[in-house]
Amino acid sequence: MLFRVKVMRMAGGRIPEDVIQAVLRAHDIVETVGRTVHLTKSGKYLKGLCPFHSEKTPSFTVTPEKGIFHCYGCGKSGNVIRFRMELEGYTFPEAVRVMAEEAGIPLPRGAGVPAEPSPAQLERQKLIEAHEYAAKFYHYLLQNTEHGKEAKEYLKRRGMSDKLIDRFMIGIAPERGDLLTGFLEKRGYDMRLMEKGGLVAARSDGTGYYDRFRGRIMFPIRDRDGRTIAFAGRILHDGQPKYINSPDSVLFNKSRVLYNFHEARPEIRKSGRVVLFEGYMDVIRAWDAGVRNGVASMGTSFTEEHAAILRRVAEEAVICYDGDDAGQAAALKTAAIFESAGMPVKIVLLPGGLDPDEYIGKYGPESFVRDMIGQPMSAVKFRLIFLRKNHKMLEEEGRKDYVLEAVRVIAGLDSPAEREFYLRELAREFDFPLETLRQECARIRSAAQKKPIPGDKSGNRWNNGRNETAPPPAGWVPEPPGRHHVERTLLYWMMHDAEAAEYVRDKLGDAFQAEDHAAIAAYLYAYYAQGNEPDVTRFFSTLQDERLERTAASILSMETVPPCTSDNLEAYAEEVLRRQRLAALKERVEERIRAERAGDALRAARIAVEIHNLERQLRGKATRPS
Ligand code: CTP
Ligand code: MN
Repeated sequence: MLFRVKVMRMAGGRIPEDVIQAVLRAHDIVETVGRTVHLTKSGKYLKGLCPFHSEKTPSFTVTPEKGIFHCYGCGKSGNVIRFRMELEGYTFPEAVRVMAEEAGIPLPRGAGVPAEPSPAQLERQKLIEAHEYAAKFYHYLLQNTEHGKEAKEYLKRRGMSDKLIDRFMIGIAPERGDLLTGFLEKRGYDMRLMEKGGLVAARSDGTGYYDRFRGRIMFPIRDRDGRTIAFAGRILHDGQPKYINSPDSVLFNKSRVLYNFHEARPEIRKSGRVVLFEGYMDVIRAWDAGVRNGVASMGTSFTEEHAAILRRVAEEAVICYDGDDAGQAAALKTAAIFESAGMPVKIVLLPGGLDPDEYIGKYGPESFVRDMIGQPMSAVKFRLIFLRKNHKMLEEEGRKDYVLEAVRVIAGLDSPAEREFYLRELAREFDFPLETLRQECARIRSAAQKKPIPGDKSGNRWNNGRNETAPPPAGWVPEPPGRHHVERTLLYWMMHDAEAAEYVRDKLGDAFQAEDHAAIAAYLYAYYAQGNEPDVTRFFSTLQDERLERTAASILSMETVPPCTSDNLEAYAEEVLRRQRLAALKERVEERIRAERAGDALRAARIAVEIHNLERQLRGKATRPS
């Protein structure tokens, strides 16, 4: 301890303390973390989804004042250097060296240079290097040699400009099958390693190696730092298989990698939105059309891990898969994955079974951006449209089945206003009594609430647990215990008075905040619609649900209920609406803040208009029951 000097001793070199201090000064923690994590302000600190463990609600915080991050979920914490170490797998000296270079801070010779990389690190480095070479090699063959002639004509026919081919480093792996092997051998690469990485294959007779990709158009696949780690090879003509991808390796993990993520990330962050395609070609053509936030998974399998990666940089996903049946089915699967990762998702339905690439070819890039990417539909709407395929819509029975299934989908919506909207649409289109649909919807919801879906940790299937565990926003005041008093009073009146029920039905529908209240209201509407007189006991027998009965009974035993005058009715119904608007307002305000953070001024402005309208509505209705 006597000789302790302010120097970090590391294998191969030392990093002076003042360099470390300079690195810390040069790298702002908010800026650094903000490149990977979408941060929102929350008092003295910023919060976001932890990049080091999988989570749906933010427990990761950054305190700019102290220059540190801390995750309440997984416990990781430290300064900006530690963050880079964790994120990029650097050792301390590696991180300091990289960060010093980035900031132009001179390092004493040899400082922080590890004496020797580990064998595993060396393998990775070599394999990446080989992939980078291979990408350039294939690209060169395509652009400058006879080998590429046919492929180039093919790509041109498909609307790929030279600029685009260069941008995406597209190449050709010639039919011959010995060119890349020769190229790598000449440069002294360990061919067994090249085989493991999927660039070459070993001859069965043990006489050496040959190119794994032959007669294919090559799309380099990059990791999130832009390093080439794999290839997808598309067959030049028709034939099977259409694509060959590199095998999973020390570099490449299909369930985590997204094509074009490195290039798309800035725009994803800026717009808060990621567009997910099915194919490489689609990403490239869409990029050319101006969609700079497009990525694709490898093949059709989109995983939870992909969703977790995207959730950290985007607020919303737009799925733009092929418009055929397979594409639509896949879109639904992917939508469900986004939803269970707690990420809002919309879907573009391409007409005539086209894929994005074909759509652009047929209708042009402007129409693609404006009418397709610019007009995605809600996942619910998409589900409702998709459902129709499963039913014989020309037959009475088929239509009925469809309607009932559609109500199940609608019942999954969080927002009462949205539920009401789709139920009305359904009732109108199929000439079904709206009351029946409301009642069915309420029944499904209350059944789902009682039985938590197995494996659903939030215990509430309808909101993905988002509202359940998210820390309350700033300025949040807990509601008093009697918060449902207004709704309960309304229901009390409605149970005793058919006209009161009719009034509330027209004014609120099932827009009660408490799930059970919405259900009881729906049962009441149906009860009266069947021509019944107010009769509490009879009404109870229609409930057929223990919990609803209990709630209804507790409403009936309320002690002080004001008289059911029309003024009171109006004021109470207004109050329910007011609270709804308040909740909507709170949501929109948060959304605006997110949009502002993401630098999306246009969206922020649009939301500001909505906020203004909501505020005006709120101010306009000053009547409030005591
Ligand atoms: N895919 C794959 N293996 C196959 C077929 C498809 O990995 N045998 C993956 C590829 O990622 C491909 C995506 O699925 O990009 C979509 O497939 P498809 O629509 O058939 O191909 P496109 O990319 O549209 O190619 P093209 O337009 O050239 O036919
Ligand atoms: Mn295609």
